[in-house]
Amino acid sequence: MIVAIDGPAGSGKSTVARALARRLGFTYLDSGALYRAVTLLALDRGANLDDGQELGRITRDASIELHERDHHYVQVVVDGRDVSEEIRSPRVTGATSKVAVHAQVRDAMLGKQRELIENGDYVVEGRDIGTVVAPGADLKLFLTAEAGERARRRAAELERRGHAADAEQVRAAIEERDRRDSTRAAAPMRPAEDAILLDTTGLDVDEVVGRAVELVRRAGTRA
Ligand code: CDP
Repeated sequence: MIVAIDGPAGSGKSTVARALARRLGFTYLDSGALYRAVTLLALDRGANLDDGQELGRITRDASIELHERDHHYVQVVVDGRDVSEEIRSPRVTGATSKVAVHAQVRDAMLGKQRELIENGDYVVEGRDIGTVVAPGADLKLFLTAEAGERARRRAAELERRGHAADAEQVRAAIEERDRRDSTRAAAPMRPAEDAILLDTTGLDVDEVVGRAVELVRRAGTRA
């Protein structure tokens, strides 16, 4: 069974996807972590972020391992190096949505993701999971929340991770990223036609996870 969870930054995707995977005993796939890891590689190599060809090559050749661990995020290992924290820095976050616009990058990433989710039960989180990566998913959720609340959540998270976070700057960065993610030609962020929209403004994590579990149960009965 595949559960697809898409939505913009700060909508609560990661928290809900992780909790849901744990509750259901499914494997969690954070597709954003893959895009972030490739972006870090590209930055380290001084690659031109406008060069889709080169970035596609870097994506194809990248060996990225994701490990579950008892932490807020998955552990991400690139070429034997633990980059879990580094890929969440504002520098890498901003660059990631620039790298992610390129069709060559997305094509290479599609293969990697499909390979991973081919066998087993997965909760997959991202921007284009319901529309492109797993269009046949058993359940598709698209999480949203008001921009102000999304920015507050992200600022609090950055502070927890030791990054300076000015609320206005965080909001501007999120808005720019959402705009880039939803207006790109290749696999833009949007809800699939058969996705269930869930507005998480004012809801706590347990409420959202509870609703998601209920929806998975219903989807399971239908299947
Ligand atoms: O956690 P947050 O929503 O802030 O970011 P993320 O899910 O880690 O994704 C970081 C960036 O990767 C996004 O802004 C997108 O540009 C890109 N991404 C994508 O294009 N497609 C995906 N399936 C996942 C992420």
